[in-house]
Order: sequence, then C-alpha cells, then structure tokens
Amino acid sequence: MANDTDIASLEKALLSEIDSASDLDAIERLRISTLGKKGRVSELMARLGTLPSEQRKAFGQSVNQLKERVTEALEARKSQLSRDAMSARVASEWADVTLPVRLGPLQDGRIHPISQVWDEIVEIFGDMGFSVAEGPDIESDDLNFTKLNIPPEHPARQDHDTFYFKPKADGSRLLLRTHTSPVQIRTMLSQKPPIRIIVPGRVYRIDSDATHTPMFHQVEGLVIDEHTHLGHLKWCLEEFCKAFFEVPDLKMRFRASHFPFTEPSMEVDLDASAIGKPGQWLEILGSGMVHPNVIRNCGLDPEKYQGFAFGMGLDRITMLKYGIPDLRDMFSADLRWLKHFGFLPLDVPTLAGGLSS
Ligand code: DAH
Repeated sequence: MANDTDIASLEKALLSEIDSASDLDAIERLRISTLGKKGRVSELMARLGTLPSEQRKAFGQSVNQLKERVTEALEARKSQLSRDAMSARVASEWADVTLPVRLGPLQDGRIHPISQVWDEIVEIFGDMGFSVAEGPDIESDDLNFTKLNIPPEHPARQDHDTFYFKPKADGSRLLLRTHTSPVQIRTMLSQKPPIRIIVPGRVYRIDSDATHTPMFHQVEGLVIDEHTHLGHLKWCLEEFCKAFFEVPDLKMRFRASHFPFTEPSMEVDLDASAIGKPGQWLEILGSGMVHPNVIRNCGLDPEKYQGFAFGMGLDRITMLKYGIPDLRDMFSADLRWLKHFGFLPLDVPTLAGGLSS
C-alpha cells in the first residue's frame, strides 16, 4: 500500500523525468502518463477508496499536493521549452534582404489568346449596340438543324460531321452543337424583335488536322427587326474587321454562297495585305439575310421581320491577328506556348485604350 515515502519517491522520480524532458512532445507524453486518466498520479487517487477511513484524509492530501507539484513542474518545463524553441527559430530564420523581388501570380499567369479575342469581339460589337447571348453546348437536333431550315435528309447535315448522343426513347437525339447558329433560334423563340446579338461559343465537329480540331470556337451574329438590309450587314462586318485588325482601311470580298438558313448567302474574304500578307484572300465568315423559313420557324412573321446573320471562326481570326501558325497548339495546354502567345491579365481589351496595344 502506498505511503508517504512512496509518494515522496514517486515525486522525486517524476520531477526528474520532467526536468530531463527534451521537447514539448515529451512533456505532453509525461502529462498523459502522470495526470491522465490512467496516469501514475491518478492511479494513486483511485486507491483512496480502498483505504481505511482514518487514513484517507492524510493520503488524499498528500496525493493532491503531489498532483499540484507535478502540474506546476510540467507547466514550468513546458514554458521553458517553448521559449527555447522560439529562440532557436528566431536564430535560424532570418530574412535575406538582398534577394530580388519575386514576381507574383499576376505577372506569371497568361490569358489565352482565344479568351482575349473573345473579349475583343464582345468589346467591338458591344460598342455597336449588340448584346451577348449564350446557349448550351449540348443541343437538340431540332434547334441545331431542323429549325435552321436543315431538314432531316438535307445534305448540309453531312458536312457537319456531328457528335451525336444515343437516341432517346421517343427517337429524338441530342448532339454537341456543330455551330453557334442554334442560339439564333433560341433567341428568336424567347425575345421579341428588335434583336441584335452576338454569340461567342464552343462548337464541335468530328474533324482533326492542322486546320481543324474537334472543338473550336465561333461567333454568331443576328440582327432582326423590320428594316435591316444587306447594306447594314456589309457595313457592320467591315467596321468590325477594321476595329478588330486595328487598321484604318481594309478590303473585303463578299462571295455568293449557300447556307440553308440564309437567302441570299455570302462568304466573306479578307484582303490579307492589310494584315501583312499581301496577295491573299482569306475566308473568315459565312453570312446572309435570315431565311424567311427560319423566321417563320421561330413563330415570327417573315412578311414583317427581316435581318441578317453571320457566323465567324473565332480561332481563325485569332490566328490571323496574332500570327499563330498551328490551330492544334491552341488547345494543347503547353505553358511555354501560353507564355509566348498569351496576354497579361490586366491587358483588358477596350476600344478607348486600343484593343491590343
Ligand atoms: N453556321 C455556319 C457554319 O457553321 C456559319 C454561318 C453561315 C452562320 C452563315 C450564319 C450565317 O449565321 O448566316 O459553318
């Protein structure tokens, strides 16, 4: 049975262990093994109940005093060790004030040329009074083709090399939109004319070589009201190209073409001498007056409403403007490429500040 001598020698042993504890973890281990639930001091306390009542008071007091002294010793050693640890840190950690300033993430990060050009286009058309519309990448066959006057067996569907999803129970199929044109339909179905929108966005076709990637970007344009005509379309596209390529003048060629959703239809080429490539005509977009069938498919009266539409390859004009040679590099996530062709985050394109300067 423990007596005062036992308690005294336990105290001596404990205090010496505490004294020689070399770090804060050791102190914590000691605290648990002495004062914790099953610790050596707590175990003495538990014996109290087994003692004859006349011994209990004195034994209890002794154990309590032991507990107090051990607690004090633990605290004292702990604060000593914390001070030592702090002094050691202060001595080892010091600032080398001669080091050069490290560039922060703002200097390191780059905006992808596609994102930059996307913003440039929104800025230019925004200035002309267009607003930005969006639609989903996963589209219905009806909006991507049928309502755009491309019925099920129309040969134009073949040109689009579409990624289809499995047909649903009712036979209808979803697909990855092959162009931004379905947003024309979505807008005409949900808004009353006058309509004046551009639609920058991702589109998808089964195609892959130096000038084609399965995912690419287009910007659609749509103007619908009661009097917009072909002259407005030409002016609008010429103004856009001058602003975008940042040149005072530029020649464009409008070639008769065919799209099911426009009549008449035109493809538009750019005289590339204005952008440093003399003697070349470069095709940049398709356009035309919105086909009466398309206007009718959206529940509008083609006798009353008319307007123009265009669809432009965003990646293509990005490559032309910024001299990017291979389309595939745009989507290869190569940081060296991005460092070279990318833009600083604070180079936000504005007409007032000069788009790219
Ligand atoms: N949707 C066409 C394409 O993917 C481009 C296009 C041509 C859009 C003429 C138009 C347009 O809005 O009027 O290739």
